[in-house]
Amino acid sequence: MKRSFLPALAFLAALAAPAFADDPGPGGERPPVPKGGHQIYVFYCQACHMADGKGAAGAAVFPSLASNPRMGTAVYAINLIEKGRGGMPWFSDQLTPAQVAELVNYLRTNMGNNYPEPVTAEQVLPFSKPPLRER
Ligand code: HEC
Repeated sequence: MKRSFLPALAFLAALAAPAFADDPGPGGERPPVPKGGHQIYVFYCQACHMADGKGAAGAAVFPSLASNPRMGTAVYAINLIEKGRGGMPWFSDQLTPAQVAELVNYLRTNMGNNYPEPVTAEQVLPFSKPPLRER
């Protein structure tokens, strides 16, 4: 008996068809934008400073942000987040002034820090980079 491969080919063609569809697929979506100080911390800071903010020491030293009296000086944290220092990366390419303000306010009022006076995006603006200022 002679076998036909046609049904199998038609089946494969049907399977392959979606690959040609005009669909960006899962990689075409933008990543979610973290909202609020806590989410921004989890996205950008937790990997080094740990979930509890207490940092870690191993191959490198990641200082504790928890119960850290330097959080009392908002400009210190703002400057460091925007400009970086040593092993601490700068975030002026990634975070808007409003996001940095939210993040600093979160750090100043959590993890054993109690500096309730809020920081505004306007205060962060002079430390930020122009492309992110308008966002
Ligand atoms: C790649 C690892 C890494 C990431 C990510 C990171 N940091 Fe740091 N951070 C460091 C290191 C290392 C230092 C110490 C820098 C130094 O003093 O030379 C530091 C220092 C700091 C300090 C100063 C602490 C002190 O007592 O002087 C603050 C504040 C800080 N980081 C906040 C943040 C925030 C907020 C984020 C998220 C936006 C963040 N860091 C992300 C590694 C990191």
